[in-house]
Order: sequence, then structure tokens, then C-alpha cells
Amino acid sequence: MDYPNPSHGLRSRVVGTEIAVPLLDGAWATYINFDNAASTPALVSVRDGVDRFLDYYASVHRGTGFKSQLATWAYEQARQATLRFVGAAPETHTCIFGKNTTEAINKLARRLELRPQDIVLTTEMEHHSDDLPFRAAARVVHVRVDAQGRLNEADFDNQMRRHGKAVRLVAVTGASNVTGYLNPIHRLAEKAHAAGAMILADCAQLAPHRAVDVRPLDDPQHLDFVVLSAHKMYAPYGTGALVGRKDIFEAGEPDVRGGGTVEVVTTDTVAWAEPPDKDEAGSPNVIGAVAMMLAMGELNAIGMPAIAQHEAELTAYALERLRPLPGLRLFGDSDPQRASERLGVIPFQVEGVSHFQVAAILGHEFGIGVRSGCFCAHPYVLRLLGLDHDRAEAVRMTILSGDRRTMPGMTRISFGLYNTTQEIDRLLEALAIVAAGKHKGRYMQEPATGEFRPDGWAPDFGAVLRFS
Ligand SMILES: Cc1ncc(COP(=O)(O)O)c(C=O)c1O
Repeated sequence: MDYPNPSHGLRSRVVGTEIAVPLLDGAWATYINFDNAASTPALVSVRDGVDRFLDYYASVHRGTGFKSQLATWAYEQARQATLRFVGAAPETHTCIFGKNTTEAINKLARRLELRPQDIVLTTEMEHHSDDLPFRAAARVVHVRVDAQGRLNEADFDNQMRRHGKAVRLVAVTGASNVTGYLNPIHRLAEKAHAAGAMILADCAQLAPHRAVDVRPLDDPQHLDFVVLSAHKMYAPYGTGALVGRKDIFEAGEPDVRGGGTVEVVTTDTVAWAEPPDKDEAGSPNVIGAVAMMLAMGELNAIGMPAIAQHEAELTAYALERLRPLPGLRLFGDSDPQRASERLGVIPFQVEGVSHFQVAAILGHEFGIGVRSGCFCAHPYVLRLLGLDHDRAEAVRMTILSGDRRTMPGMTRISFGLYNTTQEIDRLLEALAIVAAGKHKGRYMQEPATGEFRPDGWAPDFGAVLRFS
């Protein structure tokens, strides 16, 4: 397939890829960011576009000056761009901007006016943000995953049959932030609709790597709601979006009330505005929305298939070399042949070394940024680790007592469109040293967080970046 050169064409589109950071031994190394599943750096076009827009930034919606009107126009352009990005028609769908995916799902959970007896069918692989908001509003049932962490679709079917019309919503992630698995969201959508339920696809993880398409409402496989976080899409300016069926947001009252949500107010009455205004209380994050529009434009210009192909190549390259590393245990699907069927998110453990310590050594001694722990998906990670109920309960009690030192977990690497095979080579060298116990530093573990810190050394952030 014809796509931009992975090491050069794509890398130069991203901000800060060649930044050197201080290491424990006094040397400096070019930082490697393998924590893209948590957040991505900005695209150059996003940073530059935001810079240009700042000259024109002014109050939106009710301002009468040229700049206010231009900023309002830009904000609404961003809304239309978001709808287009997920294939949604403005006649049937609305785009509500907010802070991030978590806020978007909380809004949806409140706006659906769920009753305690309603069922939200979610899965054991969800990020907490696609689970906990519903627990506050309805009865949440978790579809099981298998030992490798894949969604058990037979259990999904069983649960749909068992709970029938009580299922109001299926809430499922498009891609796992732990194993990178892709879920068959459109097939699940068809099953949900056949049972009279709606579906939310959590696309926080999916959207930076694959095209999202909500499809028309008369398609049985359509998605009723999707949620996005711009900081995972190369636009870290504090915006997320909830794209969903307009009719749902036309009904009912806003969950957050205040300026911008109304048509007219008297001391006794309120007439709510139409969506999306009704659901965007207070002054919006215009810069964030513009940044997100710029990022979506760039992702489309590069092409989602090109991004997917590059990331699949990185994933296959990494899996091929990680699998034979002595002392390394990979979780999820570790077959490089199937790299294109999942995202480049790879969780692992190093035998005999705490996941917290692996992450600390990679950061402090090699300048490699990763993440460790349970990745805001405690039930899923405990399931992947094969912890039975009693052990999981013991872990829970220890954590509640304020001691996280033995908290189970994994270390995770996750790729973005700008990562390279050379960076993976550096990781492999580092992991070989970690697995052989040949790292340089002495580390102390903090009981309250479980994190490891080098004894007697801490990076001097103020020496690297001054704000005044
Ligand atoms: C699958 C998934 N859903 C939801 C979230 C929450 O996203 P945010 O922190 O942007 O609200 C994340 C973040 O990692 C995620 O990976």
C-alpha cells in the first residue's frame, strides 16, 4: 500500500519528537513516548493553527464584534467537522463539546434518564469511564471476556436474551486501552437495536487509529452515541465530544444548567435551548474545539488506513522481538501476524520486577515514557492476570489500607503514528537490561502510590523548562 514514509513523513508532523531529557546517570537521551494510549503529543498543524487562531480569539455566541463572530464561526465549523469525522449527519445527530470522554459519558448517563431497574450492558474490558457513570444511574451488567481478554460475544448474546427489553443501553469500547483489541461495535449495535436498546461506542482509544462511522440511523448497525477525547487525537487542548442522536438531547432537561443553555428565562420559568446549546452550559473551550478540528483534518489528510498500516507494522515488529525476550510475559494477543487486527497497545510484565519499577527504570535510565498499573480498567487487568475473587479481594483490602506496593498490574507500551522501529529497538535493549537485573539505579518504593523513585536523584524540571 502507498503511504507516507513511517519514520520521516509522519514523525515530522508531530511536536516535540526530538526532545532530550535528563537521565539518572547524568546523560541525556531523546525522549521516546510509548504512552500514546494515555495522551498524544500535538500535531504541528494543530499547534500552528491554534497559534493563528489566537490572534482572532474572542468571546463566542453573543459577542457582536468581528472577532467574536469569527470565533463563533470557527467553533461551529469545529462542530460540523466533528460530525463529519464520525460520519454523522447534522439532521439526525448533534455534537456536544466538553472536556473529554469521561465527561461525555457522564453526561450521557445522566441525560438518558435511566431508572434504577434499567440495565446498561457493558463489558469487563471497559475503561472505568465507560462503566462507573452508569453504575450511578442504572443497573450495570458486565459481559465477560475470555482468559486472553477478548470480548465473549456468546455471553453478550446470552445477556441480551436474559435481560431483554430491560437493556436500555449497550456501552462498549471500540478498542481496549489495555490490550488494543478492537470490538465488533457494528455487529453489537445490530444486536442491541434488535432488542430495542441503544448503543454507545467509547471511541476514545479507537478514533486516533481507525475511522469511526456512526452510519445512518436507518442502518441497523448504526451507533447511537460515540465519544472522543481530543488529547488522544494529537490535540491536547482540553476538549472532547459526545456525538449522539439529536432526538435524545431534544428531550428532557440539561444535566448542567446555566448560561448558554436557554432560550428565555423569567424568575419563574425556563425555556431550554435546542441541542447542542442546551447541553453546553457556560463558556465553551473554543480553542480546544478548533484544535480538535485541525487534528481531525490532519488525520484525514494522512489517511486512517495509512496510520493503521504504520502502527500495525510497529506492533508486528515489537511483538516479534518482545516474544522471545527472556523473562518477559506478554498479555492479550501476542501474535505478530494479527497485528493489523488490533491497536498498538501492548501490556507486559517482567518476571520478578514490579510493573511500577519497570516503568520507573525505563523512564529514569532510558528516557522511555510508558505507563504501569491497571490503566483505569481494574476488573479487566485482574482478569488478564488470572486473579480469582479471593485474591482480588485481598488486593482491594491492602489498597484500601493505604499500601499499593503489591498492587497487581502490568507495564504498557502504546504506539502513535509518529513512533519508529528505532525507538522500539531502544526499548528492547532497555528491557533486556531490566529483565537481567542490570539497571543502574537504586530505587525506593512509596507505599501510598506503589511508585518507585531513584534513591537520591530526581529530575530538575525547572532546569529543563522555565515559565518565567
Ligand atoms: C477506552 C477509554 N475510554 C475512556 C477513556 C477516558 O478518556 P479521558 O481521560 O480523556 O476522559 C480512556 C482514557 O484512557 C480510554 O482509553
